[in-house]
Amino acid sequence: MKKILILNGPNLNLLGTREPAQYGYETLADVEENCRKVAAEYGYDAECFQSNTEGSLIDAIHKAGREFTQDECAGVVFNPGAYTHTSIALHDAIKGVEVPVVEVHISNVHAREAFRHHSYISPVAAGTIIGMGTKGYKLALDFLLDK
Ligand code: DQA
Repeated sequence: MKKILILNGPNLNLLGTREPAQYGYETLADVEENCRKVAAEYGYDAECFQSNTEGSLIDAIHKAGREFTQDECAGVVFNPGAYTHTSIALHDAIKGVEVPVVEVHISNVHAREAFRHHSYISPVAAGTIIGMGTKGYKLALDFLLDK
């Protein structure tokens, strides 16, 4: 079955207990389970991966890029966490592959600290979903899979 990658960056393993006023009470396992259900409705398999390490996220994007060229992967739903605001390496990784990447932020980063207002990911993303809570993952899947 063709897949879609749900990729989460640093600290998103703490969802559910981390700053619930910003990120809500759903755990990462809840979010991933929901993504699997939504993807299955479209006939896709959601592969879920979270890492607190920049290099592992880069490797995951490269792998999705290779799978995209082999028609095995439809896209990437990516919440890069704080690397959004710092990582030229993730920007370059996305730019270096063909697979469409949708950037998701649970919180409205533009209503928060100034250092969260700039994204290195947005210029290379197929689209960006910000401030819609964990529902953003579903919206990204709808965009990528509803053909
Ligand atoms: C986040 C926003 C980032 O600024 C923050 O560093 C995160 C989560 C979000 O989903 O709202 O870790 O990407």
